[in-house]
Amino acid sequence: MLNGKTVILGVSGGIAAYKAAALCSALKQGGADVYVLMTEHAKEFVGAATFEALSGHRVITDTFESSEFLIPHIRLAHLADLFVAAPATANLIAKLACGIADDMLTSTFLACTCPKLIVPAMNVNMYDNPATVDNLALLKKRGITLLEPDTGHLAEGLSAKGKMPEPSVIYRQIEYMIGCKKDLSGKKIVITAGPTEEALDPVRFLTNHSSGKMGYALAKAAAQRGACVVLISGHVQEAGDGVENALLCGTGTGSSPEAVLMPAGVRRVRIRSAVQLAEAVKAESRGADCVIMAAAVADFTPAYPADEKLKKTQMQPETDESGQEIYTLRLKRTEDVLSWLGAHKEPGQVLVGFSMETRDLVENSRKKLREKHADLIVANNLKEPGAGFGTDTNIVTLIDQNGEKGLPILSKEETAHCVLDAAFGINGEN
Ligand code: CTP
Repeated sequence: MLNGKTVILGVSGGIAAYKAAALCSALKQGGADVYVLMTEHAKEFVGAATFEALSGHRVITDTFESSEFLIPHIRLAHLADLFVAAPATANLIAKLACGIADDMLTSTFLACTCPKLIVPAMNVNMYDNPATVDNLALLKKRGITLLEPDTGHLAEGLSAKGKMPEPSVIYRQIEYMIGCKKDLSGKKIVITAGPTEEALDPVRFLTNHSSGKMGYALAKAAAQRGACVVLISGHVQEAGDGVENALLCGTGTGSSPEAVLMPAGVRRVRIRSAVQLAEAVKAESRGADCVIMAAAVADFTPAYPADEKLKKTQMQPETDESGQEIYTLRLKRTEDVLSWLGAHKEPGQVLVGFSMETRDLVENSRKKLREKHADLIVANNLKEPGAGFGTDTNIVTLIDQNGEKGLPILSKEETAHCVLDAAFGINGEN
């Protein structure tokens, strides 16, 4: 969330300006105070009244026009936590690279010392032109963050690079840049998320109800706090991008409520099976400060998965006392990855496990803490409403050597911050 943050949204004259309205609305709903600065040409695409209604502030274009501030470009630069130029045309990028300050947007950009984000959007040839390439390289060298354009349908009718990323992607980048204090910078954190799939044959598999939401919330929270995050993810439903409401509640437009959003600033390794997850964790956990096993890893996998699709006629039933035909699956144990991590723990490495129980939550979870040599177990009772798979909330008990702490019902993002605080021995709010 962006509560208490001030964001300046600079809008220049490209067709993607209409998408900046959705970004403005999302930033407001995320809690930010938003000031919109439009170039003269941006107003050819979207009216200033749209942004004024969405932001609640006058849109300023000319440095000398009257506004609520005495010296507006200096005052706004002083207030800003982040300046985002979206869409940034080739012309605006050239001006920013040269330090030109001939209107309110460019003057304020020059006066700002806060983090800056540029979101280019233009025709592919303008984007590939050496002048634009050099200008962007120069801005990047100066520490300004660039969000690459997408490849997709451009206004001129062809599909090519140059499309402005969806507002949700820009929003997540902003949240990543200024959403939290960076108290985990320099830390490498490996997080597993989602279910595993254990193949019976090429078309069937055994899996579980994990949506991946808790693991993705942890990855987002850790990345926002400055950690270098590797997310090892089973197959999860990903939200489509689109409407601002969706961004704020963590799901995308028209997506299932189970869907997750890929957080900004996170490297993802996709896996399907428990074996693949184990391989990825073993490789990625080398040198990690913390490994968080939030994935719902299958404990059993088919012992003899078939190379070809199994036919009904191949299956041999037994008959039970009531004369019912019973078909048996033969399973073998998977490797317990958290136990492997516990047995190969690197000095100073923190291991966090999750525990899903339907009874004797604390006793069973404490047993896992001890037997798997974990440092922290995040335990939840699957029977409690508001906890467990697929929900946006969780009710967890944090269990370590020193005792246990029950948390109230919290969003998965809030729970994620509490888990990270506990793992790194941090007290306090983020
Ligand atoms: N886990 C793991 N490897 C497995 C199974 C589980 O690393 N093969 C991890 C999970 O990611 C979780 C923790 O172990 O962090 C506990 O998982 P859970 O399913 O609650 O417990 P299990 O150890 O599998 O025991 P049980 O299913 O009997 O409760």
